[in-house]
Amino acid sequence: MPEIISVAEARREETVGREVIVRGWVRTRRDSKAGLSFIEINDGSCFGNVQVIAESSLPNYESEIKRLSPGSCVSVAGLVKSSPGKGQATEIQAAEILVYGFADAEKYPLQKKGHSFEFLRTIAHLRPRTNTFGAVARVRNRACHSIHQFFQEQGFLYVHTPIITASDCEGAGAMFQVTALDQSGKEESEKGVKSVKSGGNDLSKDFFGRPAFLTVSGQLEAETFACALGKTYTFGPTFRAENSNTPRHLAEFWMVEPEAAFFDLWDDMELAEGLLKRLFGDVLQYCPEDIQFFNQRIDKTVVETLEHIVASEFLRVSYTDAIEILRKSGRRFEFPTRWGNDLQAEHERFLTETHFRQPVILYDYPREIKPFYMRLNDDGRTVRAMDVLVPKVGEIIGGSQREERLDLLERQMKEQGLDPQSYWWYLDLRRFGTVPHSGFGLGLERAIQFITGMANIRDVIPFPRTPGNAEF
Ligand code: 4AD
Ligand code: MG
Repeated sequence: MPEIISVAEARREETVGREVIVRGWVRTRRDSKAGLSFIEINDGSCFGNVQVIAESSLPNYESEIKRLSPGSCVSVAGLVKSSPGKGQATEIQAAEILVYGFADAEKYPLQKKGHSFEFLRTIAHLRPRTNTFGAVARVRNRACHSIHQFFQEQGFLYVHTPIITASDCEGAGAMFQVTALDQSGKEESEKGVKSVKSGGNDLSKDFFGRPAFLTVSGQLEAETFACALGKTYTFGPTFRAENSNTPRHLAEFWMVEPEAAFFDLWDDMELAEGLLKRLFGDVLQYCPEDIQFFNQRIDKTVVETLEHIVASEFLRVSYTDAIEILRKSGRRFEFPTRWGNDLQAEHERFLTETHFRQPVILYDYPREIKPFYMRLNDDGRTVRAMDVLVPKVGEIIGGSQREERLDLLERQMKEQGLDPQSYWWYLDLRRFGTVPHSGFGLGLERAIQFITGMANIRDVIPFPRTPGNAEF
């Protein structure tokens, strides 16, 4: 019996001479005058296709093989030979082609190439079959693999923080509420679960007996583990109900959040820099075909940028110095560059693309513009925050040293309109054996955007959720 192998393996020179089976989806079929067909097959195992030669002597040549069009699914058994063609080392001389499923060329949305990314978003269930989305999926997979490797190798413990939570980590109120109450007002919900009318919004009768939400960040819960087990990280989906229709915002995105006891802000920065360099280096090493594709077709600077970053030091610049640089730049920005204001995308881009031309870690932000949990500096006006900014994408990481002093943390909560009592468990970490600790959040999609050069964040997540969009 021939062995079932991947297209990636079938494309390798070493495979020549083996009888194999390859299974996948047809990308193109071309018939030659000499009475044979060339069929390109892709199975997602690599960027490239394998070329299959089908002779007209095959029993189903007229009845089936000549009907194969893009999107059809086949299994090909045959001999791997070296290919005389350009751009491929091998090809498969088919001994047998089994058709699992045809794809009607009149109706198949990907029959033609060259669709816009906007259009492809409307067929998110089929876009993994395109070159671009296959490449994004492989790069994303590699990045996730490297994230786990990076932390595991350094002894960080992977913690699963909850997706449903009662606390608003960022204190920004941009949360999706979770309820089992029947929103239609009927006594019974459709699934037959006894539910209560939400008309009066009596949340004590709701599933959790209190308001509950989808998490915006796993940080607070990760802190509980860091304050017991030292070095930890959580990595999962997070949700934000902010109405941001930008190429950098999703309502559902994945965040990697390390949290480590005994880490100060500088340790935190070093960890962040190390993580990004590891991701970029690994993707260059393990996804060379995909990265070459992005470099040729999406953004001509991708490879150069990634290689440069892996080899250079990230700058560390205080927020106050950054504001000075912006003010002295002579640029007219849409949003004012006043000390105390949050930096806007235009400011971040100026700093990383025009002024420094490399990633920058900004630190010590005004406390008014940062969440309650960041450690207050001795100046009383700034907190131990750090954001990693990169060209094009802007903020890719946000983190801080956490306020470990109970009184200051309570004060900061009250100032931000939060009720310390509802964070009693979080405050307990400061009551019992408090410890200096730090952490950050890396937005996975922003990292993938940066690596691939894809302009819109909706094109680096399988099924983007944004205001008005949750079809698939
Ligand atoms: O800066 P953020 O809001 O930080 C936190 O949530 C902290 N609790 C993290 C921590 O310290 N553990 O978000 C962190 C990162 C951002 O830098 C950005 O990369 C990404 O998450 N991010 C988003 N990505 C896509 N869509 C959105 N709406 C995002 N909001 C934040
Ligand atoms: Mg942030």
